Amino acid sequence: MHDKDPECPTEIVDAGAAGIARAAAILRAGGLVGLPTETVYGLAADATSDAAVAAIFAVKARPRFNPLIVHVLDEDDAARIADFDARAELLAETFWPGPLTLVLRRRAGCAASLLVSAGLDTLAVRAPAHPVARRVIAAAGLPLAAPSANRFGRVSPTDPRHVMEELSGRIPLILAGGRASVGVESTVVDLTGARPRLLRPGGVTQDEITALLGPLETAAEGESAPHSPGRLPSHYAPATPLRLDAGGAQPGEALLTFGPDLRQGDAVRNLSEKGDLAEAAANLFAMLRDLDRLGRAAIAVAPIPATGLGAAINDRLRRAAAPRPVPADPGAPP
Ligand code: TXA
Ligand code: MG
Repeated sequence: MHDKDPECPTEIVDAGAAGIARAAAILRAGGLVGLPTETVYGLAADATSDAAVAAIFAVKARPRFNPLIVHVLDEDDAARIADFDARAELLAETFWPGPLTLVLRRRAGCAASLLVSAGLDTLAVRAPAHPVARRVIAAAGLPLAAPSANRFGRVSPTDPRHVMEELSGRIPLILAGGRASVGVESTVVDLTGARPRLLRPGGVTQDEITALLGPLETAAEGESAPHSPGRLPSHYAPATPLRLDAGGAQPGEALLTFGPDLRQGDAVRNLSEKGDLAEAAANLFAMLRDLDRLGRAAIAVAPIPATGLGAAINDRLRRAAAPRPVPADPGAPP
């Protein structure tokens, strides 16, 4: 809607009835709104408007068009824009509303902008569980395209203040809805082939999906990367380099640890003292932001188990640690 513009300040507003009505009006007029979902905060726009969807890419400074997830209330709404088969129905019945995205064929005559599909004949759909996201979708009466509300390549926001840090002056409104409870993005499953394929690990675990559908194919690293920004080797990245599987912090480093750990200090965060992976996922992006702000030489990260939600946590950490051949957003202020 507007490029970074000091004359157009961004407001964080309470997600009461008035806030929801304002958000819905902005969205219906083709504008952008930052809103909470249970996974991370999203940057939402009318998924049926080419101009509104194009504005998402401009505001995020995404270097090229990548497909976006379309957010709806339920399977009925999703089935108006995408073709459901028995597998999709089973997953939607089991995990919606919730942190699971289904990649399906676009339905003939689909109202969603072709830009959300980035030229593919597929569409990613998800019904979020967060009550504020749901109220906004209902009030706007629109399917909403919503990537994570961060600038390209950066850490996803899990708190309204993070969205402000990322997009201040670029969007008119951020709805406040507390800390995101899941903390990592939705799991993305591609159901357009003969066998279901896991495109991105996330809030629903691979085991939970396998229990219903049998084994999933997993996409090889880098494969189809141009269409899957969440799968680019370097993504979700703080400015400070990460050192993974660290036994401890070296002098000058900050420490992100997990499980019972006596180490404490300004530059130490514990993802979960109890060793609980759901708590760790919910804390991950906020703690990375905290430690990044300290401007240390590196953030040492203790090993995290790869089971359950640990798969999504380790996936995000690997991408945050990956070498960065391209600056995330050269035009943006630091
Ligand atoms: O939890 C989430 O999914 C959050 C919240 C806001 O809902 N959204 C989010 O969106 O993470 P984004 O744009 O940051 O990530 C969307 C992911 C990307 O990895 C993208 O490549 C994949 O979904 N995706 C979207 N449409 C696709 C399609 N048609 N085919 C394959 N992958 C697709
Ligand atoms: Mg993202």
